[in-house]
Amino acid sequence: MSASELLPKSDDQIWKIYHTTEHVEHAQYWQARIADLTVQSQLIEVEKINNKFLKFNPDLALMVDEDGLWLTANGMKMQPAWQDEVPRLKRANPKNELIARACQIKPQLNPTIKIIDATAGLGHDSLLMASLGAEVILLERHPILFALLESAKKQAETHDYLVNISQRITVIHQDSAQYLTEIAQDQADVIYLDPMFPARDHNQKSEKKQAQVKKQMQLLHLLLPEDGEMDLGDALLNLAKAKVKRVIVKRPKHAAFLDGQTPDHQWQGDAIRFDAYFQN
Ligand SMILES: C[S@@+](CC[C@H](N)C(=O)[O-])C[C@H]1O[C@@H](n2cnc3c(N)ncnc32)[C@H](O)[C@@H]1O
Repeated sequence: MSASELLPKSDDQIWKIYHTTEHVEHAQYWQARIADLTVQSQLIEVEKINNKFLKFNPDLALMVDEDGLWLTANGMKMQPAWQDEVPRLKRANPKNELIARACQIKPQLNPTIKIIDATAGLGHDSLLMASLGAEVILLERHPILFALLESAKKQAETHDYLVNISQRITVIHQDSAQYLTEIAQDQADVIYLDPMFPARDHNQKSEKKQAQVKKQMQLLHLLLPEDGEMDLGDALLNLAKAKVKRVIVKRPKHAAFLDGQTPDHQWQGDAIRFDAYFQN
């Protein structure tokens, strides 16, 4: 089945939210929450949600269990899974993380550095930046991705290691182009952009991590537009440059510059790089 056959296309399309009896209240919560975001859904109570169930219900849908909200399709399920990032967060150190150097995140900085992540996605970069000490506002325009992020934040609030980090994270459902147009100048220290890029390269990940990323990406691509119609985020660069002194853009290592604009500085990693644009 192709991605476009699975994807609920029009606004009046109804998302299924699968749940078991014990999670009916959570499912009702998420139904009401996505209704606020103008997404219609229907609750479907089932006896058991396991691999077999997901395999026999391959359409793109949502699912609620004790771990929060999930996106499901083609026998797979996916969520931002911030708890799985904990080992990575524990290893991270502001001195050797390129993202920390690019965004100038330093430990015990007072006042805390404020970052707007204008292309939140699964929120993994923001989670890392928050764990290194930054205060991060995540903007995500896709309602389902936003709901998944909100669920990830809720889960983080009850997680021993993530609870403090989650307090430095705010998630907002809005198009960044609108948000960046409306905010006052210097409301943040840094604006961070990681727009979609066709055929992203994840070769730098370990095998286990790669499998997980692959699953997350496969399901993510069912939600987001196909390569040809993808919004590559070029317009966000000038909007961001007009509002803060430091804009950082994450790119695959050999990708063209965002909006064709040559950066003022670069930090190169094995598979990705960070391009910096400074305004005086
Ligand atoms: C490549 S993903 C970002 C991945 C993210 N850095 C992470 O660590 O998970 C890009 C995301 O930006 C979102 N996005 C793109 N343009 C946007 C815009 N103008 N406003 C809000 N979100 C946007 C897309 O919906 C997508 O979820």
